[in-house]
Amino acid sequence: MTVQQTELLYLPPDLNRELLPKHVAVIMDGNGRWAKRQGLPRIMGHKRGVDALKDLLRCCKDWGIEALTAYAFSTENWKRPQEEVDFLMTLFQVVLRQELREMVEENVQIQFVGNLQALPKSLQEEITRSMEATKNNRSIKFSVATNYGGRQEILQACRAIAEKVEQGILKPDEIDEAVFESHLYTAGIDDPDLLIRTSGEMRLSNFLLWQMAYGEIYITETLWPDFDRTEFHRALCAYQQRDRRFGKV
Ligand code: IPE
Ligand code: IPE
Ligand code: MG
Repeated sequence: MTVQQTELLYLPPDLNRELLPKHVAVIMDGNGRWAKRQGLPRIMGHKRGVDALKDLLRCCKDWGIEALTAYAFSTENWKRPQEEVDFLMTLFQVVLRQELREMVEENVQIQFVGNLQALPKSLQEEITRSMEATKNNRSIKFSVATNYGGRQEILQACRAIAEKVEQGILKPDEIDEAVFESHLYTAGIDDPDLLIRTSGEMRLSNFLLWQMAYGEIYITETLWPDFDRTEFHRALCAYQQRDRRFGKV
C-alpha cells in the first residue's frame, strides 16, 4: 500500500456514512488493455486484476459496505482464445484456494453467482468448499459472478417458475417481483446501489440486468488493475452527489 493508500484505511471524512451504498457491484474491465500498455501478455493484466479486487474487498469491509459483487467471467467470455479461458479458470481456482483462510479470518462470506455447473469440476469443488467454509461469516457478503449472464439468469428463473406452475406448486398470479427474485442466482442479496465499470466502456455486458433496474452507474476511464482506494473514494463521492428519485419527483 502506498502512503496515500494507508491514509485511506478508514472511511474518508468527506463521505457520509449514512449515504454509503449498501451493495457495490463492479465490472472489472480493462485487464487486457492494462497489460498491453505495459507490453505484457493479457494474462498478466488478469493477475494484477486479482490484487485490485482483493484490495477493493478489504476496502469495502474497512469502510462499512455490506456487500460487494464482482463480475469475473461472463457467459460470453467463453468466446475468448482457449488459452486465455484456461488461464482464467486456473487463476480463479488458485486464488480461491490461496485466499480462503484469510477470508475465513476476516469474516467474509463468499458466494458465487452464475451457471456454475459448466465450470471445470476442480473449480466447482473449490467454490463449494469456500462457500461452505464462509457461510456463517457476517462482515461482508462477497459475490463473484462466474459464468454469469443476466439473460441466462432470467431464463433459468423462468424455467424454474414454470416447472412449479406445472406441478401446481405456484399459481401464475402468485408470480410477483419477490417470487421472481427468489429464483435468481442473487436471491437473498439486495440489488446493487452502485455499479462501477472501469476502462470507460458504457454498457452492462449482460451483468445484473434485472437487479440494476434502479442502480446508479459510475464509469471511470481507469483500467481495472489501476483501480485503487483513491479511485473508489472518487466513485463513492460521485454516488453521494446523485439524487436517487426512484420515479418520484
Ligand atoms: C476484464 O478485462 C476481465 C475479464 C473479462 C475476465 P478484459 O480482459 O476484458 O480487458 P480488456 O477489455 O480486453 O482490456
Ligand atoms: C465484461 O467485460 C465481463 C467481465 C468483466 C467479466 P468484457 O470485456 O467481457 O465486456 P465487453 O465484451 O467489452 O462488452
Ligand atoms: Mg473487456
